[in-house]
Amino acid sequence: MRSLLFIPGDSPKKLDKGMDSGADALILDLEDSISAENKDIARKTALEFLKANRGAAKRPRLLVRINGFETGFTDADLDVIVQGAPDAVMFPKAEGGAAVVHLDAKLTAREAMHGLKEGSIGIVAIATETAKALFLAGTYAGASKRLQGLTWGAEDLSAELGADANRDTQGNFLDPYRLARCLCLAGASAAQVQPIDTVYVDFRNNAGLRRECEEARRDGFTGKMAIHPAQVAIMNEVFTPSAEAIARAKAIVAAFAAQPGAGVVGFEGRMLDRPHLAKAKQLLARIAAPR
Ligand code: COA
Ligand code: MG
Repeated sequence: MRSLLFIPGDSPKKLDKGMDSGADALILDLEDSISAENKDIARKTALEFLKANRGAAKRPRLLVRINGFETGFTDADLDVIVQGAPDAVMFPKAEGGAAVVHLDAKLTAREAMHGLKEGSIGIVAIATETAKALFLAGTYAGASKRLQGLTWGAEDLSAELGADANRDTQGNFLDPYRLARCLCLAGASAAQVQPIDTVYVDFRNNAGLRRECEEARRDGFTGKMAIHPAQVAIMNEVFTPSAEAIARAKAIVAAFAAQPGAGVVGFEGRMLDRPHLAKAKQLLARIAAPR
């Protein structure tokens, strides 16, 4: 998933617009963009949308961001939206692998109740929204086969830390959030799931968005969350490996294949060793089976 577009779950108009946005995934939001009094209407609207669209040909993946365990709303969210068989739920305020195991059990029970195949609904966790979560970012490996990705957020974390801001005057993330970003990336890699970069809220600033996408790709993220349809095309472009990158990866794999048993090869006048081969294979695997 190169682009995951957030849509408030109580807005049928925006939900319909999302289907034509070109996003790889839509995240139907029941959490922060929905007021407490609108939770129920958002659940129902999201369910209707899932039922109407999950059979569509060539559709984006359909995710629902549920409310976290601390809210007491999680069960009511799942009771409704599992009936619509979303591709995955986005799990906010996740606190490590144990919390994912807990959510997995909640999904298993409801899949059985609604005649869905066990494990058919995936989980994408937001791994850095509480201070405690930062210390648990390395605990996701092996928690659940449902886990497809980890992402991170700066808004809830800055509230919990009592910070005045999470970006500097130039728009760059400050240290606590750079740490959260790194922990998400390392945690996702350790768990062998997709690392997904956080939202860029300044949705009229395309140059800033592009820069942040490029920095994310450089560091190993393979997708990013969007809040506005205009952000999708930039994300899809930046997170699609270029023809040049693919050709280079193929050439690296071929260079190692030409010298079976070699731990190190010369390539374009530079030394390449096993990590370069692993990286090239990773990129080719991503092309073969986009997540
Ligand atoms: N998904 C689908 N459609 C969207 C959209 C989104 N996230 N954001 C905007 N649109 C639609 C608007 O409804 C509008 O449609 P129209 O031309 O048919 O009227 C069009 O895109 C242009 O929108 P624009 O006027 O530029 O923005 P806005 O002021 O209407 O909305 C936001 C701005 C921030 C309220 C809106 O982008 C939004 O709701 N984003 C998602 C918020 C969210 O889910 N947050 C939680 C995660 S952080
Ligand atoms: Mg939040």
